[in-house]
Amino acid sequence: MPGTNTVLIGAQWGDEGKGKVIDVLTDRADWVVRYQGGNNAGHTVEIGGTRYVLHLVPSGIFRERTKCVIGNGLVVDPAGLLAEIAEVRAAGFGVEGRLFLGDRAHLVLPYHRALDAGRERTLSDGERIGTTQRGIGPAYVDKAQRTGLRAGAMCLPDFADMVRARVEDANARLAHQGQPVLDVAEVVSRAVAAAKELAPLVADTVDLLHGAMARGESILFEGAQGTMLDVDFGSYPFVTSSNATSGGACTGSGVPPNRIDKVIGVLKAYTTRVGEGPFPTELLDATGETLRAVGREFGATTGRPRRCGWFDAVVARYSARVNGIDAWALTKLDVLDGFDTIRVCTAYEADGRRHETVPADAGVLARCRPVYEEHPGWKAVLRGASGLADLPAAARAYVARIESLTGVPVEILSVGPGRENTIQIPAKAARG
Ligand code: IMP
Repeated sequence: MPGTNTVLIGAQWGDEGKGKVIDVLTDRADWVVRYQGGNNAGHTVEIGGTRYVLHLVPSGIFRERTKCVIGNGLVVDPAGLLAEIAEVRAAGFGVEGRLFLGDRAHLVLPYHRALDAGRERTLSDGERIGTTQRGIGPAYVDKAQRTGLRAGAMCLPDFADMVRARVEDANARLAHQGQPVLDVAEVVSRAVAAAKELAPLVADTVDLLHGAMARGESILFEGAQGTMLDVDFGSYPFVTSSNATSGGACTGSGVPPNRIDKVIGVLKAYTTRVGEGPFPTELLDATGETLRAVGREFGATTGRPRRCGWFDAVVARYSARVNGIDAWALTKLDVLDGFDTIRVCTAYEADGRRHETVPADAGVLARCRPVYEEHPGWKAVLRGASGLADLPAAARAYVARIESLTGVPVEILSVGPGRENTIQIPAKAARG
């Protein structure tokens, strides 16, 4: 709809299939905006049988008429962004006048990556976060500490001096960690070269987006990671360092809350997680391995195998609350095609107590045991389905159960990786 601003967020631990849903929705959006995270994200879009993985560039880049913004809430690795732009160009899509880098976004420089890796190395088992080692945490530390460098600085004449001072300071921190220090001159010269190439993309994206809204154009906000990785609402400290929830769309773009019309939560029909930290429905058995193999559950950014488990309605319900989710996009339903029975976690039990919502403490969450209900599988191939009516009754019942457990309707159903394997469900009344 013209002028409608929609936020799309991950409702679990990331990797819900946001890239594909965004790609389907960009058909109706004039702008696609990333608002948090960095190149820790990996959004996979499959077009005409070719798979593209985007990390920083919004997924709207594959629609010629869509403009894309990397908002102020991100931490941006200039080298990573340039490599990605090269891939986008190689795929036949231009970025000039279509891709804008917010001048308030923070930069990730090589010392952030070194500090990230160094810290992970010094942590013991049980403490380690299992980060993507893209320097995300240290870059957000610099931002909060007010020592960060922002994208706008790449256009300033003294950018080289600014980088030099930060690398020297970071080298002292690396030496303190017992890590090898960086070659100051090399880091500075690479940063300056990247800045020269990226400077034409740097813009006041707050002004751009407000101009777009004044013209009645529509914006799609592309969340990265997921609710359970949010620095405030996730399984802290096993989280990322940004607000992956819907509120981040406002703070990370400069578009105020009263201009957000709709929040769509992306929910995978089962659960996955990469990295360390509690995961109540994790399956450490053959069923978990089947989910991983059938769902191709390997990290889009790091290639790490994802931990897999049954659908967790406690997480989904909590996510619906903290994000204000109006509708679900339920993805990868087809991955469950071959199962005789499918389990759904409806509550947790820990320390002799029942939990209906996600506990704040990671230790308590780690002790939570899922309370399951069982559903019969449909044992049929869903991929060709083009409407809800094409689905077997057991698959429809599974979708309906997710709706009733969360109180949120499913509006988009994904039954395969391609744009064409998507079922749009317009209204509750149409379900039958
Ligand atoms: P960081 O964001 O690299 O600091 O990693 C912190 C945690 O978030 C780790 O458990 C990562 O595996 C996880 N993480 C970060 N980005 C993503 C993502 O895009 N999908 C899934 N997990 C992610």
